[in-house]
Amino acid sequence: MKKIYLYGNWKMHMLPSEAEAFCSELLSGTAEELYSTRSIDIALFPPYISITPVARMLPENSFYKAGAQDGWFEDRGAFTGAVSMDMIREIGCTHVLVGHSERRSIFGDTDEIVGRKLKQAVQKGLIPVLCFGETLEQREAGQTLAILGKQLLAAWKDIEADEIKGTSELPGILLAYEPVWAIGTGRNAKAADAQEACAFSRNLFKERFGEHMDCPVLYGGSVKESNAAELLSQQDIDGALIGGASLKVGSFLGIYENYRKSAD
Ligand code: PGA
Repeated sequence: MKKIYLYGNWKMHMLPSEAEAFCSELLSGTAEELYSTRSIDIALFPPYISITPVARMLPENSFYKAGAQDGWFEDRGAFTGAVSMDMIREIGCTHVLVGHSERRSIFGDTDEIVGRKLKQAVQKGLIPVLCFGETLEQREAGQTLAILGKQLLAAWKDIEADEIKGTSELPGILLAYEPVWAIGTGRNAKAADAQEACAFSRNLFKERFGEHMDCPVLYGGSVKESNAAELLSQQDIDGALIGGASLKVGSFLGIYENYRKSAD
């Protein structure tokens, strides 16, 4: 069975106390036993304030990871409200989301800013999860792949292949295809459409950085227990970036369980 990346983007949910309770439940009993024998990578992306309790509670060097939802592209300075990649690392994150659609649409992250954040993340030794996706109007106008290509190439503009240092255990970068119209709407992309977009993105990554380079490609946008098996069994979908359904341990792990049952 292929390795599955089960990544939970908590957005602006989970007080530090709630994050602790989530981790206690996640790590309790059977889940821990079950997953230590499975090929799985679980990452949680809490709001900044709740990263420390999560990073402290997740066992080090395990298949559990902590990440931030964003990070700024400068080292330090007069950037009120911003958090640097060094800060994120020091509090125990291995991963960082870059270019999430809510950062782009609400906080004004342009393709150029996304590219600078991505560069800063790899330079600082964090594993970026580069998010990208089309709007409904773009999909209906038949522009999906053109838009994905534009976003990806812009983000990779200043990055060289040797900066993306993955190991056999940990990739140097992950891609997360998240159609904007599917995020938080309950309406996921059709499995075949998600597969097409993820395959396109993987191929573009190889074209840009070299045939020998590969990176996991996740799908995100209304992933839940009921659609997990179909989406995760697609050839070019290596995992899921999950918002709403990652807020409860049961529905989060249920996504993996439903895939596993169908693949076993
Ligand atoms: P959703 O969010 O699962 O609630 O659609 C996904 C995301 O924004 O990463």
